[in-house]
Amino acid sequence: MNKLHILLLNFLILSLHCQGQESARYNNSLLEQLPHHIKLSWKTSPTHSQAISWRTRALSPKSYIEFTVATASPFFEKSVQKQQATTDSLRSEDGLWYYHSVNLENLTSNTTYSYRVGNEDLWSEWSEFKTATGQKEPFTFLYFGDVQRYIYSLGSRTIRQAVLANPDAKFMLFAGDLIHRGGLNKENWNEFFPAGGWAFQHIPTIATPGNHEHKWDNSKTREIAPLWHLNFSFPENGPSGQKGQTYFIDYNNIRVISLDSTVKLTQEQRKETYDWLEKILKEFKGDWIFVTFHHAMAGLARNRPPSVRFPEIKALVEKYNVAMVLTGHEHVYARGRMGADFPIYAVSVAGPYQNAIQFSDWIERAGTSMQLYQEIHVSENQLNYVSKTVLGEIYDSFTITKNKQGQMQFVETTNLPPESLIPTKNFEERYDKELVETYEADKNKYLKKK
Ligand SMILES: [Fe+2]
Ligand SMILES: [Fe+2]
Repeated sequence: MNKLHILLLNFLILSLHCQGQESARYNNSLLEQLPHHIKLSWKTSPTHSQAISWRTRALSPKSYIEFTVATASPFFEKSVQKQQATTDSLRSEDGLWYYHSVNLENLTSNTTYSYRVGNEDLWSEWSEFKTATGQKEPFTFLYFGDVQRYIYSLGSRTIRQAVLANPDAKFMLFAGDLIHRGGLNKENWNEFFPAGGWAFQHIPTIATPGNHEHKWDNSKTREIAPLWHLNFSFPENGPSGQKGQTYFIDYNNIRVISLDSTVKLTQEQRKETYDWLEKILKEFKGDWIFVTFHHAMAGLARNRPPSVRFPEIKALVEKYNVAMVLTGHEHVYARGRMGADFPIYAVSVAGPYQNAIQFSDWIERAGTSMQLYQEIHVSENQLNYVSKTVLGEIYDSFTITKNKQGQMQFVETTNLPPESLIPTKNFEERYDKELVETYEADKNKYLKKK
């Protein structure tokens, strides 16, 4: 029996003793030595590169990736290449961890690769990833709002349903607040990655940081917690000081732009950020632009100011024909336009923590007390957006088509189900009396407007 067999046996025994408990997954020093929290992301071009990151508590901090062009034959050991990972360590509240990452470059486009990570006799299973084609062709990606709380217990079911329904999705986009406390592993990152399980090893993640990924010590700078950069490898093509937070990724014919809407910027840094944003919006020659940041363009939770949060960003996304702005933070669902034909602003929530909504005038479709995910299907001239409940039922949907001149046209899908506008659990206790008392009247006014 080798070390790996002992680990697996230990895991099995522990799992039987404490089913579903975090202790079963992490309090076993032998199990922790196995590479885990393995996930794909992009630091450079999706057509020619793939970033992979993972974590260990191994005795030796060194970790490696082995990879090769995938074959149906399992006898591919002779073609395997090996590369040492870049390793950092962090002592967090649950001890010292090693965080490893590799950016595989010079890969062939439209090619499936097999890879595993580890060291000596402690290796992960082999998994596959596929490089982008770089061509204009239909594909799907997934968009999730805040997962944040009760991640393993309830958040996991949204990721699971989304991936089961879309096994060929090219990436999963998380609009911030993936977890509740960005500086902590327990109940946070220790739940988030197992919530997606092997899907993270197979489908790359694009994530924009939320306020909860930033330091939670009332610091005025709202600096990002170190675990963000240790967990993910994102591009470093953004403004200075915001690498891996504010960045863009071009996947085939679309550009996805992530803006860190939490970090405190000086006047100078703000200007640099907006200049950068304008430049990358203006220069893009592909078909569709999606901008993602965490804080919805306007407050929607019933006790938050409903005013526009980022007028400079709003002006730019309207000027440069951004198709959609994908956000979270409000813990409600909303979709609408804000005084211009485009972009379409979407606000969603994947996890179980829910807020009560305020029925702002710009909302064209709202939803509350639901876990949701979104499928976004893009082709050269058409974008089809479908928001689905955690049970896979269509909740919202529309299509944007482009004519020969490149003008976009929005058409809402017909026969959508009635809106779910149930106020959140403990509504009366959580909100001021006035906000509770006016809810029904506001809701009826909103529904009448339609
Ligand atoms: Fe948030
Ligand atoms: Fe949140």
